[in-house]
Amino acid sequence: MNSTEVLELVDNLVFAKTGKHLEYLQKDVLKGTIEGKTYSDIAKDSGFSESHVKNVGKELWNLLSLILGEKVSKTNFKGVLEKIKSHNFSSTIISGYCHTNPTANNINIFPERERSPTSVENSQATKNQPQLYLAEAPQDFNCYDRSSELTTLSNWILKDSSRLITLLGISGIGKTTLTLQLIKQIETNFNYIIYRSLRFSPSLDTTLAKLLEIFSEKTDIYQNIETQISQLLDYLNQYRCLIILDDLQMLFCSGKIAGKYQAEFENYQIFFQLIAEMNHQSCLILNSREKPIEIAQLETKNNCVRSLVLGSLGLAAKQILQNHKLSDEETWENLIDIYQGNPRWIEFTATMIQELFDSSVAKFLQWEKVILNQSLVAELDKNFQ
Ligand SMILES: Nc1ncnc2c1ncn2[C@@H]1O[C@H](COP(=O)(O)OP(=O)(O)OP(=O)(O)O)[C@@H](O)[C@H]1O
Ligand SMILES: [Mg+2]
Repeated sequence: MNSTEVLELVDNLVFAKTGKHLEYLQKDVLKGTIEGKTYSDIAKDSGFSESHVKNVGKELWNLLSLILGEKVSKTNFKGVLEKIKSHNFSSTIISGYCHTNPTANNINIFPERERSPTSVENSQATKNQPQLYLAEAPQDFNCYDRSSELTTLSNWILKDSSRLITLLGISGIGKTTLTLQLIKQIETNFNYIIYRSLRFSPSLDTTLAKLLEIFSEKTDIYQNIETQISQLLDYLNQYRCLIILDDLQMLFCSGKIAGKYQAEFENYQIFFQLIAEMNHQSCLILNSREKPIEIAQLETKNNCVRSLVLGSLGLAAKQILQNHKLSDEETWENLIDIYQGNPRWIEFTATMIQELFDSSVAKFLQWEKVILNQSLVAELDKNFQ
């Protein structure tokens, strides 16, 4: 494929989805990219400033990512092109590509400009195939019930346009599971869904850089935290994103008042505050065992900030006992109460009942001494810290 054919192919792709042809400078960026030129070379050839050319390039890669349903950048553009070619798509059937590719078919290219972020009708009408960044999330999970919590969270996000939600609860109660189930239910309302765990206590700088990498080229990411935050806020305004930062408690001091940040992570507070206060169409969910100290304050003065405390799984936890093929169903409710409906504690205990009590819950409950398996002891230890 020569560069004229490539330009025609991309132009057809863009036109089929947006009704607009490529602009002059966008074509220069594509041509330069195919020829292996840097942004600086393309800028010299076209007579525009390098930063302007970079911005045009960034927008173009984002647009192509949305159309093709995978991340496209200056670095991987040629590879992506090869893939399209190997699907034997000729420029005459490009509009067919958009109709046959399920990802491309569902993408709303200009959602941010054409719909009001606060309108429920519009948010429901926007059915995207979002770009999912869930590699750090557990892949297999069962989520029993939690219907009322799921309704509350989706109403806060879709109807009330909440920008910052904190999901709180003791370890093992099901925060991660609930957010993953929530994603399944509301994903088509978003352009991007991103899950990140803070379990290794990353600095704010690292967290921001990892988020920004999703939207822009590494070389375009500034070092300065203030600029990084404002760059990210721009993207959160431009695209509708659902970002989950899990395990927030890893940033807190242990053995101190709950929700107090370690000194090196205090700047996360400013980040969360800006997410809550600035205008954008995205939502950040924080999962934490402890309530961050700034959240209570933000909640009282900002309608877009909410928090939900996750409690017992209730009788839905019976399904866990069923999966472990335990007997004496009449005693299950008692067992669930004793373990406060905590699915992880119940899972650990169910395994122990299987192994040591011949799967009989009644025999286990009759035992005079409390028996805790090793995993549960370790789990409780963590909570006492
Ligand atoms: N609604 C649910 N239905 C079935 N199993 C569940 C449910 N919620 C949680 N679990 C199970 O309980 C265990 C703990 O859940 P999860 O990891 O979501 O808890 P967590 O609150 O995120 O814990 P941590 O604070 O340690 O991160 C997992 O094995 C999960 O599969
Ligand atoms: Mg978790």
